Amino acid sequence: MAFSHPTSAYDALSHKPLFREQGFIGGAWISGPETFPVHDPATNNVVANVASFDAAAFGRAIECAQAALQQYKETSEHQRCKFLHRFAGLIRSHASDLATLLTLENGKTLTEAAGEVEYGASFISWFAEEAIRSYGDIIPSQHAGSTNFTIRQPVGVCGIIAPWNFPVAMITRKLGPAFAAGCTVVIKPPSETPLCTMALNVLLQQAIEEFGLPRDIVQVVPTRNREAITELYTNPTVKKISFTGSTPVGKAITRTAADTMKKVSMELGGNAPYIIFNDADVKAAVDGVLACKFRCSGQTCVCANRLLVQAEIHDQFVQSLLERMKTFKVGSGFDPSVTHGPLVNKAAVSKVREHIDDAVSRGAKLLFGGHAPTGLSPRELDCGFFIEPALLTGVTTEMKVARDETFGPLAPIFKFDTVEDAIRIANDTEFGLAAYFFSSDMRTIWHVSRRLEAGMVGVNTGKISAAEAPFGGIKESGVGKEGSKYGLAEYQVIKNITIGGM
Ligand code: SIN
Repeated sequence: MAFSHPTSAYDALSHKPLFREQGFIGGAWISGPETFPVHDPATNNVVANVASFDAAAFGRAIECAQAALQQYKETSEHQRCKFLHRFAGLIRSHASDLATLLTLENGKTLTEAAGEVEYGASFISWFAEEAIRSYGDIIPSQHAGSTNFTIRQPVGVCGIIAPWNFPVAMITRKLGPAFAAGCTVVIKPPSETPLCTMALNVLLQQAIEEFGLPRDIVQVVPTRNREAITELYTNPTVKKISFTGSTPVGKAITRTAADTMKKVSMELGGNAPYIIFNDADVKAAVDGVLACKFRCSGQTCVCANRLLVQAEIHDQFVQSLLERMKTFKVGSGFDPSVTHGPLVNKAAVSKVREHIDDAVSRGAKLLFGGHAPTGLSPRELDCGFFIEPALLTGVTTEMKVARDETFGPLAPIFKFDTVEDAIRIANDTEFGLAAYFFSSDMRTIWHVSRRLEAGMVGVNTGKISAAEAPFGGIKESGVGKEGSKYGLAEYQVIKNITIGGM
């Protein structure tokens, strides 16, 4: 199928102002002391060179966000609602360009990218409505003539650190509640995929201008300098950090943020079990694997890491999944016939290979994939970060893939006998982000849902992420909830006002 794969981010856009390589500090786009390249993972071409800032720039951005906070926190919830709806509308009306940028810097297919842009806009629309539903309480007092009232106030300046796997949606999932609550933000865009953050800020600035709000409610500070980011975690003016990324980094940020008692939301690593019981609908379970395991080529923290299949249904499930995987096509995300794009970098490909090699050396069988895909040009194979989605059977709990998040397109199948075995294996991990299972028995559904140690459980579905559903983990997968009616509170503080003498 004929298609064209852009070689520069600027050329790829129909609305050129969306392309920005500078940071946004103090209400203006500015260049940094250095730059860093942004690579297209399908070709390894440099598609942009983005400004890289130092700690002093973060310090200035935090000051500017604090100054803007004084005005923005006084806006009414209804005004914030309208402003956020406008921002969501602008994202939707530029969806095609945003999807193009997303595919170019992240690699996922254009279809997936378009889906992500809508998913991203949905968080802004959702929190537009939540802004005006921020209720308090009236609490009867034990002291005669007194009454307690609670109000919710913005926590203050928020530091936002988002990952590369959802360059639009993971920014909007944090921006929506922050602005709905009346907070101002300093964003450190993901270094692999900063261009979508910049484009979102172009649209945000348009909405800000139309509503006469301070430009400084958002600061965008890209950097490749890890030391510089520390300013966000240590500066006492920052009152909250929202981070999505790995568990070790999340723990380190939380430790540092504790020194100034910042509120934190940590959306960290996972090791999701995906259990198929004997009474499951096999077709639905396979559809779920495609939606969950192979979304973004397996690079999501909620994707199934371990497929546990009950003995009686094992062979039928493996055969059905294998047939579906044979229809996959790996290549450029701009090719409409491609189902799976490249991984984010070479290290990601190596990790998938490492998990396959370890499993095979311990007795697992590689039934499908795991190699460089056929049908790509020598240049694509040489430069792009491609690997065929892989299917392993005979996987056991001593293998690396049982403990460690692959974060890639590898489906490892573990066989089990009883419901209790499945629950034990599923919970045998320090992580607790997502878990999935398929069964048609109501008692199993209720029992297993309650016993799985995860913040989110998908039953008879592989799709659990949506603006209205609380997203977040337990155990070492993090703290806090994003999206949903609970997400706003993460950006607020509750104040109790006791009025006496009444
Ligand atoms: C993530 O992988 O970080 C988020 C995935 C989602 O929102 O579904």
